[in-house]
Amino acid sequence: MATSPTHPPRSANELRSAFSGFFASRGHTAVPSASLIPHDPTLMFTVAGMVPFKPYFMGDEVAPYQRAVTVQKCVRAGGKHNDLDEVGRTKRHLVFFEMLGNFSFGDYFKSDAIPWSWELVTEVFGFDGDRLWITVHESDDEAEAMWHEQVGVPMERIQRLGDKDNFWQAGDTGPCGPCSEIHVDLRGPAERAAVDGATLVNNDDPQVIEIWNLVFMQFERKANGSLVTLPAQHVDTGMGFERLARAVVGASSNYDTEVFKPYLRKLEALSGLTYGE
Ligand code: ALA
Repeated sequence: MATSPTHPPRSANELRSAFSGFFASRGHTAVPSASLIPHDPTLMFTVAGMVPFKPYFMGDEVAPYQRAVTVQKCVRAGGKHNDLDEVGRTKRHLVFFEMLGNFSFGDYFKSDAIPWSWELVTEVFGFDGDRLWITVHESDDEAEAMWHEQVGVPMERIQRLGDKDNFWQAGDTGPCGPCSEIHVDLRGPAERAAVDGATLVNNDDPQVIEIWNLVFMQFERKANGSLVTLPAQHVDTGMGFERLARAVVGASSNYDTEVFKPYLRKLEALSGLTYGE
């Protein structure tokens, strides 16, 4: 579905730069990673790239820029987003990770965020569109139409899911909205021929994994559970950097990437053990 670039970014730094550069050239301000300890009483840690920007989404503060791109250090080890129990059991969950994100504060919305994400994933990172799956919220006809009509993703590669998978909020309260995810099928040809990837999306398959979440922020979740429409519509996206680093090289584990190799080599030297044995 898309042509692959001749020299796609592959190293950790190339991937971070390619993401930031793509959005910087589309008017986004590159903002440095904020602290892991948020200025936010509802969260223990910075769990996502959007956390430092919450006041802008809520309309409590005016953003100094309308578009931002970040590589945000995150910890998910408590509260609503807690990956601690998955770490060590899967090859894709981490307690500390980096999130690549582009943000719009009341500026562009779905009709830009969706085609840009596809362009970056296929034309810059070089993913084959035939390995990608899209999910959208069950209520979001608009996002589905954009993926299909604007971007050209076949309908059979788009799935409509409910709140559990396709509605995102940072904490129990705060800004939130329906989301749309890009999943990649990293299985080999025989496995792909044997089992339809459609059945593996959002199903804990180790090789069919979510790589990017696009959140269309438009509500505030109140403490009583109700949703109130925000003063403006925003975009908050998050791509798992370590998953991307793994997926672009076709590795079967986040740990089998350049990101972790120096640590694993050091641990091998210190322990006298061999990684993988
Ligand atoms: N804030 C969204 C997430 O963390 C992008 O998945």
